[in-house]
Amino acid sequence: MRDRLVVGVTGASAPHLAIHLLTSLRQIDAVETHLVMSRAAHRTVELETGLRPADVAALADVCHQRGDIADSIASGSFRTAGMVVVPCSMKTLAGIAHGYSDDLLTRAADVCLKERRRLVLVTRETPLSLVHLRNMTAVTEAGAVVLPPVPAFYHQPESVDDLLAHLTGKVLDQFGIDHDLFPRWQGARREPGAAR
Ligand SMILES: Cc1cc2nc3c(=O)[nH]c(=O)nc-3n(C[C@H](O)[C@H](O)[C@H](O)COP(=O)(O)O)c2cc1C
Repeated sequence: MRDRLVVGVTGASAPHLAIHLLTSLRQIDAVETHLVMSRAAHRTVELETGLRPADVAALADVCHQRGDIADSIASGSFRTAGMVVVPCSMKTLAGIAHGYSDDLLTRAADVCLKERRRLVLVTRETPLSLVHLRNMTAVTEAGAVVLPPVPAFYHQPESVDDLLAHLTGKVLDQFGIDHDLFPRWQGARREPGAAR
């Protein structure tokens, strides 16, 4: 059986990050994706991408309703490889940091923490308040990985898609999923004979 990966999408800016991740996972076909979107994510998808939430849902293998707290991913007995929340709003970060599981998305994240499963939060906000920073510290202490969508330039991106691919690749690395989404750093090239 393929591993399952829960993908939470919240109402932070850049739902493009989730769309790229789900599209890549579908191509790689290494895991069964279980999507849960917050109410605010429905708004940001419409406002920022022009797509319908149903278009995003169609990219996942299974789409869960955020209000159905009795669904499979609400239980630790439903085995998964973990969860990524992408993008992760400061509100959902706060809920996860304080164990306030008032919908299926935050409950599924809480399950990952209690079961000691991989939980990756692609937190998107800038600048950060002390409240945000303290919540990031709290989730890190509880075992989550805070992985903000910070662009890198060592792989010489030429497009927004290159930047999205790098971020998706960094998320997949956290779950040990093989990919070739960006060229890996092999060390700076040196002129032959140059001093080390
Ligand atoms: C277009 C738009 C962009 C937003 N961007 C962010 C953001 O980048 N980070 C953030 O924490 N909240 C952002 N928000 C606010 C969240 O959507 C809001 O706090 C919401 O309650 C989050 O709920 P959720 O975590 O359940 O999705 C944005 C809202 C809108 C409408």
